[in-house]
Amino acid sequence: MDKGRFLAPVFIFLLTLLTCAMISLIISLNYSKRKKQQGKKPKLPPGSMGWPSIGETLQLYSQDPNVFLSTRQKRYGGIFKTHILGCPCVMLASPDAARFVLVTQAHLFKPTYPRSKESLIGRSALFFHRGEYHKRLRKLVQASLCPEVLRKLVVDIEAITVSALSSWADHGRVVNTYHEMIKLSFKVGILAIFGHLEPRYKEELKKNYTIVERGYNSFPTNLPGTRYRKAMKARKRLSEILSNITRERKEKKLLDKDLLSCLLNYKDDKGNVLTEDQIADNIIGVLFAAQDTTASAMTWIIKYLHDSPKLLEAVKAEQKAIHQSNGNGKSHLTWYQTRKMPFTYKVILESLRMSSIISFTFREAVADVEYKGYLIPKGWKVMPLFRNIHHNPEFFGDPQKFDPTRFEGSFRPNTFMPFGSGVHACPGNELAKLEMLILVHHLASHFRYELVGCDSGIEYSPFPVPLHGLPATFWRDMDQNLHAPLSSHTIKSHIS
Ligand code: HEM
Repeated sequence: MDKGRFLAPVFIFLLTLLTCAMISLIISLNYSKRKKQQGKKPKLPPGSMGWPSIGETLQLYSQDPNVFLSTRQKRYGGIFKTHILGCPCVMLASPDAARFVLVTQAHLFKPTYPRSKESLIGRSALFFHRGEYHKRLRKLVQASLCPEVLRKLVVDIEAITVSALSSWADHGRVVNTYHEMIKLSFKVGILAIFGHLEPRYKEELKKNYTIVERGYNSFPTNLPGTRYRKAMKARKRLSEILSNITRERKEKKLLDKDLLSCLLNYKDDKGNVLTEDQIADNIIGVLFAAQDTTASAMTWIIKYLHDSPKLLEAVKAEQKAIHQSNGNGKSHLTWYQTRKMPFTYKVILESLRMSSIISFTFREAVADVEYKGYLIPKGWKVMPLFRNIHHNPEFFGDPQKFDPTRFEGSFRPNTFMPFGSGVHACPGNELAKLEMLILVHHLASHFRYELVGCDSGIEYSPFPVPLHGLPATFWRDMDQNLHAPLSSHTIKSHIS
């Protein structure tokens, strides 16, 4: 008998047996590994909870908050825990973790603000809410700030801007740039909310809103004479003023697309309208979200352009060409022209990255949440750290360098979030950018400026602002064959 013919089937049988044994071994090893992993409890992120009760609050307040956060990021990585102002927190300096909290799993995290601050703005303001109410209000705010509406505001924003620049230049005095920008962004905010509003109402709103803001940034004690108490009283007066404006608007039955009209004309499926408090809280809320943020961003643009003369020249070249094509200011800047300022636009994006005005935001976990093997316990605060992400050299090479050309290329998703991300992302971002483009257009095409004092540094008010509000002097650019850029009537109506 041929030995080979007998051994071949045995060999094949043994080989098959061995292969089957190997496969079942691999499967069972993988299964037990998976079992082990499933049974493994997620752990808290690395980091220090500091001292009992006070946590790391003293460390945070005894140094620049950015230094506090970046040293911990270096030590622990993109996700770490800490304990500040009586709250256990998880800090997120990783773009993926920020996306998880703000976008993909946003339903597991709710917005969170101190009660004292909620009371000053008004509890019905959209950014304190989530779910159906938030969605409804957000749609109305977005409708009042969409491109079709903004396009019609260009002429008025231009008038407000030219009037502001002219007043700084004509008086020849040193101005606190940030304070002036606050006045400018307040006027634009009022325009977006009410359209044209009687000067007496603007005055009353400004006076009381300033008191509310001062109280917002003070220690919240409701004792007589304190800033907080005064702010609560001013907030009440704001409601009364808004109620008068609303009553008059209802009588006129206007069909404008400004925020007040959008809020007034809203009806749900059952015919219910918004209450007076809901309207007032959302108007104050939008004004609050719009004013200091945009003012701070515009102040930083002035600073960065001053510090980079070559970039300022490039911006001037772009803007002067547009100014000349408009007959040196004889005709108005158009919406279309604001869309065709590629270099200036990159300067604005880079200013937003560098200054990261909203350095971080807060959320609170509504359940125990697991993220990449880490536990975020229910009730803990969660803070996506926009500034740390914007200043991470992994995502933005040489991050301390002001370099608008970095926006020519593409970069990793979820690494550039000056306006946040997800369901609460800023609905005013297009208006803010429009204001900045119009400001830079007029500043660069027919004004000059110089900073007074050369202190570099940041102060917090509460947003990061150049030290002392960036004192500066402004002039008209005499090289220009200037004509009155806008009719004096339009400008005068905005000075009030
Ligand atoms: C440079 C200027 C601005 C910056 C950097 C900025 C930034 C932001 C950021 C980061 C958020 C998200 C906050 C979070 O997720 O917790 C936000 C929300 C918001 N912003 Fe802005 N913003 C600016 C200007 C404006 C303007 C001009 C308006 C309105 C006219 C506005 C209205 C709002 C509102 C209403 C929200 C809340 C949205 C919601 O909760 O659904 N912002 N902003």
